Amino acid sequence: DTESKLQLIKTHIRAFPDFPKEGILFRFCSDGGSVPGLDARGFLFGPLLAQRLGLGFVLVRKKGKLPGPTVSVSYELEYGKSDAEVQEDAVAAGQKVLIIDDLLATGGTMFAACELMRKLQAQVLGCMVVVELKDLNGVDRLKPHKVFSLIQY
Ligand code: PRP
Ligand code: ADE
Repeated sequence: DTESKLQLIKTHIRAFPDFPKEGILFRFCSDGGSVPGLDARGFLFGPLLAQRLGLGFVLVRKKGKLPGPTVSVSYELEYGKSDAEVQEDAVAAGQKVLIIDDLLATGGTMFAACELMRKLQAQVLGCMVVVELKDLNGVDRLKPHKVFSLIQY
């Protein structure tokens, strides 16, 4: 029933004191799981796939947005630099994961996500995107990881 579903959701909401600054009790709902999606446009597609597969979605965010212990990786993309971050306990060691984003350009962003998964000792089964920009050779950059794209330019 509804009440037990709400109770289940509540078990996934943790409270982090003093984040992102002192005096704030930051309540954050996370699942842990096997479908990491990339901030921000990967958040459009990742949860849909995760739900279809019956798996948990994991937020890979730009730096400074996630409370608690995190690991981070700096990277370059087609038009700049950034840092990707994931919570240390978001994926269990040995867990198989499928990384999701909307688009692969140089592969810098996806490579950073693979690095994060390596740091957490997860096994990347594949990198999935809707759009691949072939001229930018992101697929080569990501080898030996497998890339699956639906539309190529
Ligand atoms: C875009 C896109 C990918 C990345 C691809 O994200 O959504 O994540 O660039 O580029 P790359 O393969 O060269 O790394 P962006 O950083 O612009 O952020 P957004 O999702 O917040 O718009
Ligand atoms: N991310 C990186 N390069 C991009 C592009 N050319 N179009 C949309 N998103 C991108």
